[in-house]
Amino acid sequence: MPTVEPASTALFLKRWLRRPFATGAVVPSGRLLAEAMARTTRSVIDGRPGHIVELGAGTGEVTKALLAAGIAPERLVLVERDPEFATFLRRHFSGPRIVEGDAARLPRLLADHGIAPIAAVVSSLPLLSLPADVVNGIVGGVFEALPRGAAVVQFTYGPKPPIPRALRQRLHLVGARGKRIWRNVPPAVVWTFTRPAA
Ligand SMILES: C[S@@+](CC[C@H](N)C(=O)[O-])C[C@H]1O[C@@H](n2cnc3c(N)ncnc32)[C@H](O)[C@@H]1O
Repeated sequence: MPTVEPASTALFLKRWLRRPFATGAVVPSGRLLAEAMARTTRSVIDGRPGHIVELGAGTGEVTKALLAAGIAPERLVLVERDPEFATFLRRHFSGPRIVEGDAARLPRLLADHGIAPIAAVVSSLPLLSLPADVVNGIVGGVFEALPRGAAVVQFTYGPKPPIPRALRQRLHLVGARGKRIWRNVPPAVVWTFTRPAA
């Protein structure tokens, strides 16, 4: 997989200066983190049919890794709220469906675009820098859209799980932590969250 392009880095910095909390990082995810996200996603899909929904695709570093890992482009749906990132994605990716919109409205967005069923959600949303009520809304909506047993793959830079404990308990989520990827800037951990079948 190619390394991060200068155009991606420049756009990221520009959007971070404009909307630091929503952008969540100064630079795009590095190759090792993107590959870890893709590997984890492949393992959680485990033969499930349906779409892989990527939230907060940015300049598409995780998208590239998902495609390189063998996820078919027509299964991939990229949800990105920032119009400049969405334009960048449209210019660089012809296979995946690109939905410009707010992940907090995920069930509505998926219904409006006729996207179902969902095999997994891959999220790079900056959950740590978003207000608690926004995180509750996004995560609640994600698990409303996901069938039971299907997983959310989410990275975080922080030491704790990216979905707060109270919310995990309320939604009966089970989390699994990957190894910290020290060679990402900043170092990051890939988590998976599942709501087991009842
Ligand atoms: C940390 S960046 C990750 C970008 C890219 N996936 C990567 O790993 O390099 C977070 C991304 O989430 C997007 N984002 C933030 N809040 C969002 C929301 N509510 N709905 C959709 N996208 C959102 C930002 O615009 C940004 O592209």
